[in-house]
Amino acid sequence: MCGIFGYIGPQQALPLLVEGLRRLEYRGYDSTGVAIHDENAIHVHKTVGKVSDLQRILPERVEGNMGIAHTRWATHGGVTQVNTHPHQAHDGSVHLVHNGIIENFRSLRKRLEQQGIECVSETDSEVLVQMMALELANGAEPLEAVQRTVQRLRGTWGLCIMFRDEDLLICARNGSPLIIGQGVDEMFVSSDPHPLTTHTQRVVYLEDGDLAVVRRSGITMHSAQGVSSTPNVTVLEEEWGESDLGDAPHYMYKEIYEQPDALRQCIAGRVDREMGSGRLGGMRLAHDTLVQAPHVRLLGCGTAYYAAEIGQMLIEKMARIPAVTHISSEFRNNDPVINPKALYLAVSQSGETADTISAVKEIKLKGGQIFGVVNVVGSTIARLCEKGVYIHSGPEQSVASTKAFTNMVAALTIFATQLGRTRHLSKDQGRELIEHLQQAPHLMERYFDDVGPITEAVDLLADASSVLYLGRGLSASVAKEGALKLMELAYIPCLAYPAGEMKHGPIALLEEGSPVVVIAPNDHLKAKTLSALHECKARGAKIILIHEAGDDIASEGDVCIPVPAIHPWLTPLLTVLPLQLMAYHTALRLGRDVDRPRNLAKSVTVE
Ligand code: F6R
Repeated sequence: MCGIFGYIGPQQALPLLVEGLRRLEYRGYDSTGVAIHDENAIHVHKTVGKVSDLQRILPERVEGNMGIAHTRWATHGGVTQVNTHPHQAHDGSVHLVHNGIIENFRSLRKRLEQQGIECVSETDSEVLVQMMALELANGAEPLEAVQRTVQRLRGTWGLCIMFRDEDLLICARNGSPLIIGQGVDEMFVSSDPHPLTTHTQRVVYLEDGDLAVVRRSGITMHSAQGVSSTPNVTVLEEEWGESDLGDAPHYMYKEIYEQPDALRQCIAGRVDREMGSGRLGGMRLAHDTLVQAPHVRLLGCGTAYYAAEIGQMLIEKMARIPAVTHISSEFRNNDPVINPKALYLAVSQSGETADTISAVKEIKLKGGQIFGVVNVVGSTIARLCEKGVYIHSGPEQSVASTKAFTNMVAALTIFATQLGRTRHLSKDQGRELIEHLQQAPHLMERYFDDVGPITEAVDLLADASSVLYLGRGLSASVAKEGALKLMELAYIPCLAYPAGEMKHGPIALLEEGSPVVVIAPNDHLKAKTLSALHECKARGAKIILIHEAGDDIASEGDVCIPVPAIHPWLTPLLTVLPLQLMAYHTALRLGRDVDRPRNLAKSVTVE
C-alpha cells in the first residue's frame, strides 16, 4: 500500500528518494511522486504509474538536500496525477505525504471551503496540508501548525511534512507506521524499515500519537498535546537487505524456490530433538502459562489466516485444547470475550496489516496475552505484541505470499509441539514430528528437482471460467491458499471447499471439463477425499490431483502431481508448493503481472 520516504541531510535528496521509492515498490501502488526543497522553492514531480515512469519525467538535475516522496495506493479519489502525493498547500508553504485514511475529511474540507480554500484533488490528504498552511498563515510555528491540525483529525495517519521556509521535516503517526533512520548529520524517514537499512541501522519507531521534528542534527519528539520526550533509538537487529532478483524472472518465482532455505532459517535453533519439543525463546512462555491455557485463538488475514487455520488444527491435534482461528477484520467488530489465561496469536507477514493490528489492540485492551507470529522484524504487530516468534522468511517482495505461508505453518507447528508436550503429546510423537520437520526443507528441494506436470495443469486452468479446490482437514486450508493464489494472480474466480461440503452446494457448478484441484495427501482423510474426487469426475470435471509420491492414487486424476511423502501433520508444507507454481505459471500464461497483481497491495495498512 502507500509508502513514504523522506530525507534531510548533506546529500542530494532526489536519488535517495527515488531509491527509497523503488524499495517501497513491493508494497503495491498505482502512482508516485517526489517533492524536493532547494534553497528557494519546492519542486514537485508526480505521475500515475511506476517509479520507472516517474524517473522518465524527472528533469536531468534537481538540486536540493531535503525532500519527501510517496507511492500511492488509491483510497479516496481515482488514480490520477492530481490525486498523487506529495500534496501542496494553496500558497506553496507546506507539502506533505500521507499514509492512512482521514475519516472526517469531508467536514474538514467543507470548513476549508467556507474559509475560501478549494482543494484541487479528491483526496483526504490534501485537506491536511491546506489546514496546516492556514495555521501557519495565522502565525503558528510549524510544530504548532501540525499539532493543531492532527488534534482535529479522526482516522489514521503517517505523515511526513516539509515546509518551504524551514530546514526541517515533521513526522506524525497515528495507526500508520513511520520510522526515522538516524545517520551522521542526516536523517531518513520511511513507512517501512526495509528501505532504511542500506543507510543506517539506528532507527526511531514512531508510536501512535507521536510527532517528530526531524533536523539534520537530531530528532525531537512531541505529542499532539505538546508534551516533549526523548527519542527512543533502536538498533535494527538484522539487516533486512533488499533481495536481489538475481537470475530469477520474478520475485514470486524466486520466493517460491527460496522456501527450503527460508524454512531452515525458521526451524534453526527452535526445536529440541531430544525432548521432541519446540523452543520458541521469543514467546517467553512459562510452563504454567502453557499448562493453564484454556484455549488458543489465532488471528490473520488472507494467506496468514489460512496458515493460522493449519496452526489451529495442529494445536488441537497435539495439545488437545480448543483452538479457534478468526479473520482479523471481523474480530474487533464482534466485541469478543477475552480470557486473560488464553493464548492469542497474531499471524502476519508484514506485521503492518491494519485489521490484525486492531485485533491485537482489542485483545490487549481487554487484558489478553497476545503473541506475534510475524516476518518483518520491528514491525508494528511485533512491537505491539512484545512477545512472539519471527518466522524468518527474509524479505518477501512479491505481493502474493509464498515463503511466508510455509514459515508461518512451520512456526505454528513448533508452537503446537511445545504446547502439546506440556499436555498430550508424548516424547516419541514429538521426536518423530521434529525429525520430519527438519527433513521438510530437503523434501521441498526434492520436489523442486521435479515439479511434475505443472504445464498440463496450467493447460486446464488457463481457460477456465472458474476453478474448484477441494481438500479435507489440513488440506482444506491448503485448498483455500491455492485458490487465493490463483485468484489473485490470474484473476480466475476460484472456490475452495472442504471436500465433504462439496456435495452440499458447489457441485452444482460442475460441468463437462470444469477443472477441480484436489489435495489428497496420504493421511487418514485420503479415502474420503477420493469419494469427493469421484463425485466430481462423474460429472465430467477434469481433476488436478496433488498427492504423495508412492501412494496408491497416482492414476485418479487427469493431471497428477506427486509431492514427497512426509508426516501427515506436515503435508501442507509440501502440498502447497505445486499450487503456488500452478498459480504462478497460469498467471504468466495469461500475461498477468505476477509480482504486482492488479488492485492488490503487499501490506494492507488501512482497515
Ligand atoms: C495473499 C496475500 C494476502 C496477505 C494478507 C495478510 O497472497 O499476500 O492475502 O496474506 O494481506 O498480510 P500479512 O500477512 O502481511 O498480515
